Amino acid sequence: MSESTLSAGTRVFDPDAIRADFPILQRKIHGQELVYLDNAATTQKPKQVIKSLTDYYEQTNANVHRGVHTLSMEATNGYEVARTKVAKFINAPRSEEVIWTRNTSESLNLVAATWAEANISEGDNIVITAMEHHSNIVPWQQLAFKKGAEIRYLSHNDDGVINFVDASSVIDSRTKLVSVTHMSNVLGTINPVAKLAELAHDVGAVILVDAAQSVPHMPVDVQAIDADFLAFSAHKMLGPTGIGVLWGRLDLLEEMPPYMFGGDMILEVTYEGAKWNDLPYKFEAGTPNIADAFATGAAVDYLSDLGMENVWQHEQELTAYAMEQILSLDNVKVLGPQDSSQRGGVISFVHDTIHPHDLGTALDQQGIAIRTGHHCAMPLVRSYDVVAAARASFYIYNTRSEVDALVNGISETEGYFNR
Ligand SMILES: Cc1ncc(COP(=O)(O)O)c(C=O)c1O
Repeated sequence: MSESTLSAGTRVFDPDAIRADFPILQRKIHGQELVYLDNAATTQKPKQVIKSLTDYYEQTNANVHRGVHTLSMEATNGYEVARTKVAKFINAPRSEEVIWTRNTSESLNLVAATWAEANISEGDNIVITAMEHHSNIVPWQQLAFKKGAEIRYLSHNDDGVINFVDASSVIDSRTKLVSVTHMSNVLGTINPVAKLAELAHDVGAVILVDAAQSVPHMPVDVQAIDADFLAFSAHKMLGPTGIGVLWGRLDLLEEMPPYMFGGDMILEVTYEGAKWNDLPYKFEAGTPNIADAFATGAAVDYLSDLGMENVWQHEQELTAYAMEQILSLDNVKVLGPQDSSQRGGVISFVHDTIHPHDLGTALDQQGIAIRTGHHCAMPLVRSYDVVAAARASFYIYNTRSEVDALVNGISETEGYFNR
């Protein structure tokens, strides 16, 4: 988290007022109030974001960068304004460094297919942590197979905290890339990415931060953490599905070959060849996701109005309360840091006797939505000697009474299974 040059927010953080902005929270599930605790998978959308989509299609819809007519110019302007908002939100030095992608996964694949393809050779190594999402494992494994490079894992202790004694030997002179999650989507651990950036830079490596679970929840300043690349998805931060961001350092992006080829990413095409467009368009082939860029801008506005320090504080308080309540249950074990100040608003847990899928199904009957399974981090979940875990994850609209509903729901389910 940065010292923060970022906005402190202009709106009072009032959970009741916030909840009123989310139409879906009025829904009943099996006749019960919806308690939505699956925010690490995707968050709900406020009416401001939904309206930006309908406004776009009702008032502006046109293709970008190609037209001289009013609608096309308005679409182009809105698309670029949204990029500028994202750049400001993460304190990127320039908006051309913000590339629109489909999601975090595509952002990571883009770096693997371009920067890593050009810079990683046989005998080099790529360092990731043992707590990565599949999206930050599989692209590197594939690249390593192809290039004859090595994948190395930074280990963590039982509490899910990275082992730094180990880190300084794992990252060495053959390390070309360190690619780490800022916050684990299973353990909730917040990794000290600035410290890892220092270790990476000391050996001349580049650091990529998977910020899918951090940018939505805490102030993230790419300059303060000294990242080289940063990836995140709009759908985990109130925005629509189908759009994400890759931020990269200008000099790296400029040297990288394109990811996809086609319209908009070229400056000039002849029958013999083509010249690439300037940043960021070099990486945005074809008609982009214009409507969802507008809506991402609206999501960024919503969070900026609340202030990311306030978002983070709310989640820290709620997580501390939830940890206390969940840990007070006899048959439940929480994965990851037991000290809530070392984690974000994600709590994965296993019950001694109830399978997570049974627990998730029983909670759904009570209107409570949690995640169950391997959370796209199979090696990590298996390292705890379990095949699946239940996960509750929080966001700006969640309340203490929803945590109470979860804990009561677990107790009720125990009663049912032990009957
Ligand atoms: C830490 C982390 N990285 C990457 C991803 C992949 O995000 P997406 O599915 O939006 O590409 C997720 C999604 O849950 C995640 O939690």
